[in-house]
Amino acid sequence: MSVITQPTDLLRQQDPQMADVLEGERRRQAGSLQLIAAENFTSAAVLAALGSPLANKYAEGYPGNRYHGGCEYADLAEQTAVERAKVLFGAEHANVQPHSGSSAVLAAYAALLRPGDTVLAMGLPYGGHLTHGSPANFSGRWFDFVGYGVDAETGLIDYQQVQDLARAHRPKAIVCGSISYPRHPEYSAFREIADEVGAYLIADAAHPIGLVAGGAAPSPVPYADVVCATTHKVLRGPRGGMVLCGAEFAERIDRAVFPFTQGGAQMHTIAAKAVAFGEAARPAFTTYAHRVVANARALAGALEEHGFTITTGGTDTHLITADPAPLGMDGPTARGRLAAAGIVLDTCALPYGDQRGVRLGTAAVTTQGMGEAEMRRIAALFAAGLRGDGAKTRTEVNELAQEFPPYGE
Ligand SMILES: Cc1ncc(COP(=O)(O)O)c(C=O)c1O
Repeated sequence: MSVITQPTDLLRQQDPQMADVLEGERRRQAGSLQLIAAENFTSAAVLAALGSPLANKYAEGYPGNRYHGGCEYADLAEQTAVERAKVLFGAEHANVQPHSGSSAVLAAYAALLRPGDTVLAMGLPYGGHLTHGSPANFSGRWFDFVGYGVDAETGLIDYQQVQDLARAHRPKAIVCGSISYPRHPEYSAFREIADEVGAYLIADAAHPIGLVAGGAAPSPVPYADVVCATTHKVLRGPRGGMVLCGAEFAERIDRAVFPFTQGGAQMHTIAAKAVAFGEAARPAFTTYAHRVVANARALAGALEEHGFTITTGGTDTHLITADPAPLGMDGPTARGRLAAAGIVLDTCALPYGDQRGVRLGTAAVTTQGMGEAEMRRIAALFAAGLRGDGAKTRTEVNELAQEFPPYGE
């Protein structure tokens, strides 16, 4: 019996209805292809920490300074997570309490900005996240966001435009980071522009932070005043966020997380983050991170051969954004047909035109052990799924997924 089925078996005796839901989700994950760029399979050790007795513990505050009693093991868990994060990313300070990537960004803004301040970030139509100024999000309501874009031809960040906008608007902070940019941001260029206009530089590295941990992407830590990240994407940890910064911002960040924007820390998640950081420090994770990128490049190349237009002409990361227009359809249509074939991905804004494209990533399939040969198989399955041979493709997708069970047999 594998570790992932045990809780379901225990639950079945107590709550068969919910056990059925969890078993359905387990089968869905194991029987289809998970290409959502923000998802991954955590290790069984991370799942064990998430399902540990620390889930019961209240621990408002920070190690050694809690509002609750009985925090000796909670303190150890958090100290371990903080120390591992600092070493892994070469940061002077780490706060591992943010409940999510959005909470990490909220804390960064709370630490550095006042409502009404101007912030320069990637515009949402080009891949900015909701927390980068969406009117539907606190960020757009409380701050005055100015959006930079990407070059319409190349899809690459236009640093001249970033500089021009920074000079014109004199933002209090510049945010670099995106939900769909498949290339490495030039952190040194952002730093120079921020310094020129006296702005803070906030790196929202939610996507690339796992590649940074594995040495497969440049680190924003030496350049940004504050780095926000998630722990659940390529990094392969539990769902959650973290903030990294220099010693000078440590106190402001800690106060911005608790008590300003959050209450009690989720200690089971923090323990699971510590487990993930420990795993990411091992040589096997370095190999993994480089394979994620090699797989993304192979998949992008194969999708191009099957007729997709690949934004920016390729990828340096786990992320691919692609336009299915040459195949006679838009992103939402492609996503629907692929979902019917068991290939799960997102749609995304494209830097040009009105049509949406598709966004996909290779973190989860690489965790399953797939390599470049499987990426070519996946691209062929895309082509078949989009032609509309749903049922036949669904069977082949299921066979491929079953060859690489995420948690072993
Ligand atoms: C760039 C960026 N920032 C922030 C977030 C928010 O993370 P979460 O969904 O954990 O709040 C994401 C999530 O995908 C992201 O890609």
